[in-house]
Amino acid sequence: MIKKFLDLGLQPLANKYQKKSTKLSASKGQLYNLNVSFNTKSKLVSISKRIPSEKMFNSKYPYRSSMSHTMRTSFKNLSKKIKKKFKPDLLLEIGSNDGALIKNFKKENVIGVEPCKNLAKITKKDGFLIYAQYWNFDLVKKIKKRFNSVDVIYSANTITHINDLNNVFKSINYLLSNEGILIIEDPSLLECLKKNSYDQFYNEHIYLFSALAVKNLLNKFGFEIFDIENLSTHGGSLRYYIKRKTNKKQKISSRLNIQIKNEIKFGLHKFEAYKKFSVNVLKSKIKLLQILNKIKKDKKKILGYGATAKAVTVLNYCNINKDLIYNFTDTTPEKINKYMPGKNIKILRYNKNILKNYDYVFLGAWNFKKEIIKKEKKFVKKGLRFITHIPFPRILS
Ligand code: TMP
Repeated sequence: MIKKFLDLGLQPLANKYQKKSTKLSASKGQLYNLNVSFNTKSKLVSISKRIPSEKMFNSKYPYRSSMSHTMRTSFKNLSKKIKKKFKPDLLLEIGSNDGALIKNFKKENVIGVEPCKNLAKITKKDGFLIYAQYWNFDLVKKIKKRFNSVDVIYSANTITHINDLNNVFKSINYLLSNEGILIIEDPSLLECLKKNSYDQFYNEHIYLFSALAVKNLLNKFGFEIFDIENLSTHGGSLRYYIKRKTNKKQKISSRLNIQIKNEIKFGLHKFEAYKKFSVNVLKSKIKLLQILNKIKKDKKKILGYGATAKAVTVLNYCNINKDLIYNFTDTTPEKINKYMPGKNIKILRYNKNILKNYDYVFLGAWNFKKEIIKKEKKFVKKGLRFITHIPFPRILS
């Protein structure tokens, strides 16, 4: 049974930054209702509304994986590990974005699949083989004809963006070699509930995976998880190492059982945990608005740092307009001088003195808190204060 537990209200498409200040309307189909549900049988958590992929992932997609030091380092370390442990002759990445991972491999050893043509172009220019297409069975038939099989398939923050999971795993099953390894990483549902990070939900994040749900999903395709890692990236992610059940070369790590136990201990297999989460989300909204309104009353100015898709959920759910957060700033060229969807807060180009015009910073990219505060320590020394809503809204001391 599919049971709804969270209503985040009317939301715009998260990564659709507006060229000019625009009032969006539900009747024109520019806003959708963001509801989140739990499937009591499969344990899968998903949003109810499905937006066609072509509307989200196209040649105007503004998210770049290489924009943070944290992510570049994470991909670099992972590629070293993959080379050492699995020694793939051929690795394929589903959702290679701007090449943050594949750039760590030799060109003859990697294939990227990236439907956003603007991003695919960046890596193609560097000489990598990129299929600028969606990951589905039709594409995989084409790749199989040319390469027969692939030793490692990797995908970060992409599988949860694809509606038809059966097609995703059927395609992987068709292309992966017998002893091939599938590695996927996505935000962790357990971390989301623990951190009260409701902003992990937006139109692109169709699913939020737990080890419990992934285990069930893989079963249908004869795959199993043999190891799992908790990562700090994207506010807490899980990296799943997956193999065919028939492949006895890889041993099942005890880390898998620990993760499953932790998820059950928290109650991820039962609806009650999700109901409790939804109460905490509402409390978070009330508290954040109290903080922002007090700052407004004191006539101080707030800058949003990181014009993230997550921040779009927060702004629209909490009804935060530019009277509360005056501007955002971001380093991503595709976002600069545009407006936060639904709330029309202007995104300014980042420069190292931008913070001097503000009294407070709201961490839109709270998942890069350490990196950002370190980068801006000279302003912190001068009295600039940071606000975060994770795990609960507060001004950081
Ligand atoms: P994400 O949380 O979805 O990965 O997005 C992070 C956004 O924050 C991305 O647009 C880049 C931006 N960003 C900055 O503008 N400055 C920074 O120092 C960092 C770490 C991120």
